[in-house]
Amino acid sequence: KVRREAARRRVLLPAPRSFCAGVERAIEIVERLLEEHGRPVYVRNQIVHNAHVVADLESRGAVFVGELDEVPDDALVVFSAHGVAPAVEREAAARGLDAVDATCPLVAKVHAEAKRAADNGDTVILIGHEGHEEVVGTIGVAPERTLLVESATEVAALQVPDPARLTYLSQTTLAVAEVEAIAETLKGRFPAIKGQGAEDICYATSNRQAAVAAVVDEADLVLVVGSANSSNSNRLVELARNAGVTAHLIEDADAIDPIWLSEARTVAVTAGASAPPRLVDEVVRALAELGPIEIIERAVTRETQEFLLPQRLRASGGGPR
Ligand code: F3S
Repeated sequence: KVRREAARRRVLLPAPRSFCAGVERAIEIVERLLEEHGRPVYVRNQIVHNAHVVADLESRGAVFVGELDEVPDDALVVFSAHGVAPAVEREAAARGLDAVDATCPLVAKVHAEAKRAADNGDTVILIGHEGHEEVVGTIGVAPERTLLVESATEVAALQVPDPARLTYLSQTTLAVAEVEAIAETLKGRFPAIKGQGAEDICYATSNRQAAVAAVVDEADLVLVVGSANSSNSNRLVELARNAGVTAHLIEDADAIDPIWLSEARTVAVTAGASAPPRLVDEVVRALAELGPIEIIERAVTRETQEFLLPQRLRASGGGPR
């Protein structure tokens, strides 16, 4: 009797995926402060948008708060990777808090562009999602001079004080194609507007999107490891769905529903920039438990970006890792 060997399921691993340099830096800042300062280290907002990262740091002595009034006087507080409005920095200084800024340098760059534009008398049109922490921080740079748009349709209704004095910027973790489309619509309506395509979208966001785009046509199912509030992770799910492929955002391996796998011969597994690589390994292990797999790595580029730690942590041997 001939035994039919089960066909192995292909597991595609698009690269780059998982942690970016800004997330690694933000986590390392909290880790080093916990080592040097001891607990508690207060962190305003989730240091990065990942439930596992937050729970892990919490277990080691980090205390996550939503606002500075939850931080006791004279305490040490870290600002998350998404950045803060200058008003928050001023409040921390006025309270005498010892604040360490873990804002990703690529978010800080957008803040600097917003400040420059507003100082020059421009109105800033920020492309982003209302309520996202990064957007709240960037609007806070020039709150009186910033207007938020979320979609090309919103551009039509936009009322600006002076169409000749406009600069557009974007949140760093959006879909490249979507920002390019909104930027085109803005330019159509306000020909004098300044801004450069989707260039505020960070390298990590655009690379993870390009990596998924490169494999999506081969996949029957795309699994994106990331938390529900992670912007760049959600954009990866959308990218796959827009290509007509079933995609799910999963917190970790426990979230996999075996039913998803029943018809899926080729599964792509990626992770947003805030999701730890070990979660991807666990997902691959979980897939292996559901039947034989063949793992295929598909890299579109190799990332070499590194960011220095803040000055005060560099003396203790800190630096890019
Ligand atoms: Fe920075 Fe982009 Fe990561 S803005 S934190 S490099 S996702």
